[in-house]
Amino acid sequence: MAPTIHILNGPNLNLLGQREPGIYGGQSLADIEGLAGERAKVRSFEMVFRQSNHEGQLVDWIHEAGDSAGIILNAGAYTHTSIALHDAIRAIAAPVIEVHLSNVFAREPFRHHSALSPVVHGVICGFGANSYCLAIDALADLSAP
Ligand code: DQA
Repeated sequence: MAPTIHILNGPNLNLLGQREPGIYGGQSLADIEGLAGERAKVRSFEMVFRQSNHEGQLVDWIHEAGDSAGIILNAGAYTHTSIALHDAIRAIAAPVIEVHLSNVFAREPFRHHSALSPVVHGVICGFGANSYCLAIDALADLSAP
């Protein structure tokens, strides 16, 4: 069976498409799931794609994906605050790529700090939905022989 990657989405990302389209674009989360699914297939990954507004649920899903081929995590606003997600990432073996649709560094100062960046493999931000596809490519290249 193909290796599995887990794409985990945090709070308010269920509202993509309606939520601040000038910042996050007009695509819904289902649209992004479709694009990511195509890229995952090209890169020979099985994909699990999930969204939750609850921090503890994201912690549980990170644990569940701990031995997978990798996690792509858009933790939304929890990126900037969550020690629980920081600790969950430290506790698992799978590589984690932090992604953001927007360029968080070009936005408000409170978005410039990430509690996750020090413990992830890498960060991709500012490319809209393509941030997810770039992260799938990054995971594929990481696991390539
Ligand atoms: C986001 C950026 C975060 O600052 C924000 O809280 C989000 C979305 C992004 O994808 O650009 O909810 O993670």
